[in-house]
Order: sequence, then C-alpha cells, then structure tokens
Amino acid sequence: MARIISVSNQKGGVGKTTTSINLATALVACGSKVLVIDFDPQGNASTGLGVVKTSDYNSYALVTERCTIKEAVHQTAIPNLDVIPSTMHLSGAEVELVSVFSREFRLKNALAECETEYDYIFIDCPPSLGLLTINALTASDDIIVPLQCEFFAMEGLSQLFQTIELVKAKLNPSLNLMGVLLTMYDNRNKLSSLVAEDVKAYLKDKVFDTLIPRNVRVSESPSFGKPVLLYDQKCTGSQAYMKLASEFLSKFKAGATV
Ligand SMILES: Nc1ncnc2c1ncn2[C@@H]1O[C@H](COP(=O)(O)OP(=O)(O)O)[C@@H](O)[C@H]1O
Ligand SMILES: [Mg+2]
Repeated sequence: MARIISVSNQKGGVGKTTTSINLATALVACGSKVLVIDFDPQGNASTGLGVVKTSDYNSYALVTERCTIKEAVHQTAIPNLDVIPSTMHLSGAEVELVSVFSREFRLKNALAECETEYDYIFIDCPPSLGLLTINALTASDDIIVPLQCEFFAMEGLSQLFQTIELVKAKLNPSLNLMGVLLTMYDNRNKLSSLVAEDVKAYLKDKVFDTLIPRNVRVSESPSFGKPVLLYDQKCTGSQAYMKLASEFLSKFKAGATV
C-alpha cells in the first residue's frame, strides 16, 4: 500500500514543488517506486520532471472523471518515477466540483485504484487552501510543510494548521503532520539561522533535522526538465534531498508517524 504525502503550504515560492520532485527522486534512488501528482494548475512539477503538459490525461481530467488513473499516469525519464501532470484547466476544477456530491473525496477515490503499485505518492499542492488542497489532504496519510527561511515564514502557518484540524475532524481523522521542512537555508545569512531557531523553538520535534540549503543548482535543474539529483548529483542541494530521504524513511521505520 502506498503512503500518500501532501506537500502543502498556501504560500507560493516556499519549495513545495522542488521538494515534491527531489524528495520523490531521492526515494527512487533509495529503491522505492514513487508517483508525483502535480496538483497545482501552474504545472511546475510536470515541467520540472520533463513531462509535456499538452495531453488530455492529467490531474484535472482525473478529478473531474474524464479519464482513469491508468490514463492519467505518465512515465518520466527516471525508471520507477511516474507523474500525473497538471494544466491550467485544473483551476477550473475548484468551481466545477462545487456542486458535486463527495467533492472532497475525488482524489482519494481515484487513487484507491493505484495504491498497491507505489511505495509513496506525493501530491504537490497549489498555493491555496481551497478545494484542491482539501482533496489532497483528504487523500493523504501525511503532510510535509516546506517553510522558506525568510522573515514572515511562520505567518499563515496557523491558518494551515486550522485547515489540517478541520480536515482531520470532518474528512480524514488519521491525517498526520509529518514535519515542517526548512528550505532555502542560507548559512551566510543570519536571518536564515534566526528563522530556523524560531521555527524549531515553536514546533519542536515537528521540524525535520535536515535543512535544505539555498543552492543555485536546485533552481537551475527544472529548466532542464530534470530533478537536481540527475542534473548535478554532487551539489549541496542533491545531498540535502538524499539526507531528507533517509530521515523520511527512518521516521516510518521508527513508527513515529504511524
Ligand atoms: N533549495 C533551493 N535553492 C535555490 N532555489 C530554490 C530552492 N528551492 C526552491 N528554489 C527556487 O525557488 C522558487 C520557488 O520554489 P518552488 O519549489 O517552485 O516553490 P512552491 O512550489 O512552493 O511555489 C523556484 O524558482 C525554485 O527553483
Ligand atoms: Mg509549486
């Protein structure tokens, strides 16, 4: 059975897509079979994984029941790493589904048919707390929340946590906050370390030990349609995502998140 993980934060530009792509790739490098669902109408995860977004088979078609899960899944250039791409049409799903019965369960129901095929399924969420994110959280076992090491990093977190509590109360009682991930950490910048200290003081063991450094190779790789591990295996960004993969796996082994 696949473990389903939403990568979510309603702020844009905090590293959700980068983390979805690169943690997924690092887990594949560790021997797992992984699916990434691009659930943001901007489609950045699809581009970053080198998948063309012109096909009719995508996350929008899936949640509006215009295609099956088998049709929606595309292979990437990396063996054992699949993706369900997205297009701008996905933004229309928020409106289209409003009057639909069980609209919050569309993604969960669709994924039930492929859960035995993967070890992990990552959902790259959009920068909002609307129906798409609610669908993602309803379908998920765990959530990873990337936080950029900048001033105002924690602003909006309480709103996200409220949404998580609401989903737990009404739709998905076993949803678990796996951890907050500090991204774009710059060790030459005092603000980065101050933000990291603040976040750890506030959220304690809910913060991943692994810090993702700001690294230009990480930001260059999507323009080549490649995860950073394929673009430059040795850079600090690749090493950080490999470290994150082993921390992620050890959390499951320890049973800490179950
Ligand atoms: N560790 C990093 N080092 C350098 N640039 C990064 C890093 N993580 C993300 N970025 C860049 O920051 C921008 C926002 O990241 P992204 O993953 O797209 O955020 P989100 O999906 O939350 O909007 C992108 O241009 C991305 O390439
Ligand atoms: Mg994104």
